[in-house]
Amino acid sequence: MKLDIRPKNILIIGGASGIGYATAQFLLNCGVRSVILAGRSVEKLHKAENSLVKTAADQKVLTSQFDIASVDTHIELLNSIHGRLGVFPDGLVISSGVNFSAASWKGFNISEKDYDRVMNINLKGPFFLIRNYSNFMYERNLRANICAVSSISAHRDMQSVYQISKNALSGLVHAYGKHLAKRGIILNGVEPGSTDTGMMPHLKKYTDGRREGEIWTDNGIQRVIRPEEIAEVVGYLMSENCDVLAGTCLLAGGGCRSIPRGN
Ligand SMILES: NC(=O)c1ccc[n+]([C@@H]2O[C@H](COP(=O)([O-])OP(=O)(O)OC[C@H]3O[C@@H](n4cnc5c(N)ncnc54)[C@H](OP(=O)(O)O)[C@@H]3O)[C@@H](O)[C@H]2O)c1
Repeated sequence: MKLDIRPKNILIIGGASGIGYATAQFLLNCGVRSVILAGRSVEKLHKAENSLVKTAADQKVLTSQFDIASVDTHIELLNSIHGRLGVFPDGLVISSGVNFSAASWKGFNISEKDYDRVMNINLKGPFFLIRNYSNFMYERNLRANICAVSSISAHRDMQSVYQISKNALSGLVHAYGKHLAKRGIILNGVEPGSTDTGMMPHLKKYTDGRREGEIWTDNGIQRVIRPEEIAEVVGYLMSENCDVLAGTCLLAGGGCRSIPRGN
């Protein structure tokens, strides 16, 4: 599938792996001029930069080491991209996030340190980046598209701080979609169901080595979602025709809305 993507230079936070990486490839396939991958691990960024396939000779893939939780570096990132590309990114995908590794599933027993870590990366960082980026573009009279990768967890009862962070991230999209659309900034979100990425290593069993009769029952399509499928939804939300969706989070759960996980 190829879409007419409105922004031409797109910054992807969390673009070195999983859904962010698949989005970078999809956007390149659709003919955007450049993708800028941002994340904390330089090694991961370089690996991604070298493996993405360009579809035109003048396409560019850039990388930037960046921690979304370090709010005071947000504007510096935008200026450094301008210094390297000669333009400001007119699209922003926020696909960064942390989950199991931060012990976010321990419910009420989570430590204050882990709570802060999950919330700073999954909610506070995106909130301030969306605010800083949209103000930055508005002040320069530039239009932009933003897509935040939330989660189907936003609708679940998982007793986890991860869920709280994603519920609030979807809430952020709903809260500011109209305000930003009036300023020429189209903010949307996607809420993926269980998707086969490094964040969900336990899903490998249902993708690579699925045994006869072993069915993924978490959704209606009875299979784990591929990151490329979520990338297409992100691309759609950044396409020419998506203004009408401003302030919307599209649930991409393969037929599943909510699964009770409480114990
Ligand atoms: N996979 C699923 O089933 C699923 C379902 C629903 C929603 N999601 C959401 O989808 C998004 C992408 O996750 P994924 O599944 O593609 O997993 P992933 O491959 O682990 O991607 C997460 C990316 O975020 C980056 N990241 C983490 N902390 C960061 C920070 N502080 N600053 C900047 N970048 C940071 C990571 O790179 P570094 O560690 O190098 O920074 C990594 O590239 C996440 O928001 C996740 O919550 C995933």
